[in-house]
Amino acid sequence: MTMMLEIVKPDDWHVHFREGKLIKLLVRETSKLYNRTIVMPNLSTPITSITQIKKYKKEILNHSLNKKFEPLMTFYLTESLDVDELIKASKNNLVFAVKLYPSGATTNSAKGVKNFKNIYPILKKMSEENIPLLVHGEVNDKKIDIFDRERIFIENILFSIIKEFPDLKITLEHITTKFAVDFVERSKSNIKASITPHHLILNRTDMLEHKIKPHYYCLPILKKEDDRKALVEAATCGSQNFFLGTDSAPHNIDDKESECGCAGIFNTINSIQMITQIFDNENKLDNLENFLSKNGPIHYSLPENKEKIILNKSPRPLKFKNYLENDDHKIRIFSPPFPIYWDIKSEIIP
Ligand code: DOR
Ligand code: ZN
Repeated sequence: MTMMLEIVKPDDWHVHFREGKLIKLLVRETSKLYNRTIVMPNLSTPITSITQIKKYKKEILNHSLNKKFEPLMTFYLTESLDVDELIKASKNNLVFAVKLYPSGATTNSAKGVKNFKNIYPILKKMSEENIPLLVHGEVNDKKIDIFDRERIFIENILFSIIKEFPDLKITLEHITTKFAVDFVERSKSNIKASITPHHLILNRTDMLEHKIKPHYYCLPILKKEDDRKALVEAATCGSQNFFLGTDSAPHNIDDKESECGCAGIFNTINSIQMITQIFDNENKLDNLENFLSKNGPIHYSLPENKEKIILNKSPRPLKFKNYLENDDHKIRIFSPPFPIYWDIKSEIIP
């Protein structure tokens, strides 16, 4: 039985650091575990300018506990995004990628895209400049059932984008369906997908049966067990097409346990540990490093981290705290419905 593992230090390719006093709490936790992370731009005022990026990045770095920590910043794609500003930011290494939210699809996405043809001139430039497009792949359409929104987005929106811009580097983020897995498997090498811990662990029945669990509510919404199994197979099979993006997206407990609860799961603190446990449960620990530490850098044309971490399987399940708190915030930490034995023992710095 494997009890120790040494892997290249992981990165988190999708995280929300929010704003105000929350930034400190969240950055500290992420920087303890990861070297790089792609920072989502869906603040109450979306990030669309160099001034905003510089300010936000500085604030983030102020709270890092890791000298190597590198927040990779993103612009929020609006139909009126200033392309010159984007290109200038990219050429000066201030922006790493651009995030596409269909308008209204999720938290703080009202300023997102309504008419996708309107962003084609921006996508053309991004393709020429090799700026990655990060996609929240769900249509926001009352006529489309919430469980079908990822598939319909791929069929109706993403297919056209790919046809028009075959060389654009695209990440289909936080995929949730077998349909999305198959789509990525069949796509060209410039289209890859990130997968969250919670979508690997939960299905919609977990969220809804007997009593509703607001802390399992996220977007894209949890799908069927067959979909979850397809995600686990995709993540654990060693394919280069899939990598970790935690989509760790905290909301205050009052906003989750509410008549109109927010979408988002905060999973940073035990993310690497539970992913390792999933791979162990599947007998696929040999492929863990690909998913956590290698596939992301390959997709984004970045070097893999030089540091390594040592994971250790303890004889007893680990205990994690339930909440992350400060004076103003109380955030539920995601707890998977199975025991976690894998812990991070140490880091090897070259
Ligand atoms: O569940 C989610 N929460 N999904 C998203 O896409 C956004 C996120 C958030 O920002 O709260
Ligand atoms: Zn997100």
